[in-house]
Amino acid sequence: MNASAELRTVPELIAHKRDGGELTDVELRSLVNRYATGELPDYQMAALAMAVFFRGMTPRETTAYTLAMRDSGRVMDLSAIPGKKVDKHSTGGVGDKISLSLAPIVAACGVPVPMMAGRGLGHTGGTLDKLEAIPGFHVDLTRKQFQRQLAKLGCAIIGQTAALAPADKRLYALRDVTATIESVPLITGSILSKKLAEGLDGLVMDVKVGRGAFMKNVDDARVLAKSLVRVGRGAGKDVRALLTRMDDPLGKMIGNALEVREAFLTLRGEGPADLLDLTLALGVEMLQLGGVAKGRADAERQLRAVMRDGKAVALAEKMVRAQGGDPRVVSEPDRLPSSEHRVVIKAQKPGFVQAVDALELGLVGVSLGAGRTTTDDVVDPRVGIELAVSVTEHVNVGQPLAYLHVNERKGHTQHVARVRDAFVLGPKPATRQPMVIERITR
Ligand code: URA
Repeated sequence: MNASAELRTVPELIAHKRDGGELTDVELRSLVNRYATGELPDYQMAALAMAVFFRGMTPRETTAYTLAMRDSGRVMDLSAIPGKKVDKHSTGGVGDKISLSLAPIVAACGVPVPMMAGRGLGHTGGTLDKLEAIPGFHVDLTRKQFQRQLAKLGCAIIGQTAALAPADKRLYALRDVTATIESVPLITGSILSKKLAEGLDGLVMDVKVGRGAFMKNVDDARVLAKSLVRVGRGAGKDVRALLTRMDDPLGKMIGNALEVREAFLTLRGEGPADLLDLTLALGVEMLQLGGVAKGRADAERQLRAVMRDGKAVALAEKMVRAQGGDPRVVSEPDRLPSSEHRVVIKAQKPGFVQAVDALELGLVGVSLGAGRTTTDDVVDPRVGIELAVSVTEHVNVGQPLAYLHVNERKGHTQHVARVRDAFVLGPKPATRQPMVIERITR
């Protein structure tokens, strides 16, 4: 920290941001570094995060903050691994299990995927929590193990370590429980600090828009996408973003082990259409960034081929084994942990499903134990919600709308009512909208 940062105390810096002021690069770096080492307590960081939530950051501040977050730990050098290393990251959704299948699918096409993922955040699920539903699977590889696995298999999915983006590891957990998630600069810094630290060349951002996303409308999502592309490119990486729909849950499963099950279906090109469409759309971008496809049609052809011929499944099995998990779960999902009870929720009127409120189902999922409400909460991999019908489908009175996967049969009256109310039924079939709303490359 240099003299100018020492001129102001932390309460003064928080007050400056609270009142709409701009923090200098040195001030931001000092705050981030002190938070990463534990010198700055959670209560001051929470206050600062709330001030940023309300006041935002200028583009200059966002870039300085992101780079400081990246530099709070080591930055990996993957240049010894041949090929362009490409990752994708989602801004967070409900039922979003895409990474679990996309990483092995893309790696099976010859693009190395070094993936540093996150845990559940607010009502949205996290890739790490999902992977940990696989018995034995561990996400805390050392840097050397990560690099070795990437060189050997072409993909690895890990969490932040004390060495990589440690400031985000702490702040992510703090934001999760202090209502400071939905902020463009904080999301930009959080995502890109991890991504820039993992040593990638290209990144595809899945920026979610809608009821179940942190960005509720296209304009806000576009601002976030542009912030991610601008800061990422400024740091020398090839970054592009897709704005994608997150009004309804993605796929039919919400909850950690349930989502792993559905992700492994997608590896074979099976499973719900929305999941498959989005996997292909993101995969096409990744193969292009990785320089292994002649065009979009060729990229899609390659992705479909590895799903069909078993290469994606074989790679997922190798990844699970390499990270300590039981590889048989990929083809035998009944080996995954499951809940004690499956409580059916029936339709009380007939109709075509017009919408399913992803936010509400995400919140019910957290309340069942699939996510956290305090930083110390331990998630239950077994619990969640399974949709029996999704948008465009028809139900009659008494037919299942959804199932709760729970460990006690009783005590779910509220959950049942909330899930039932999340389904909007109407007299005419709704049309399914394309998953991708917009592509942002500049
Ligand atoms: N994903 C992240 O890694 N960070 C955020 O802030 C939101 C989504």
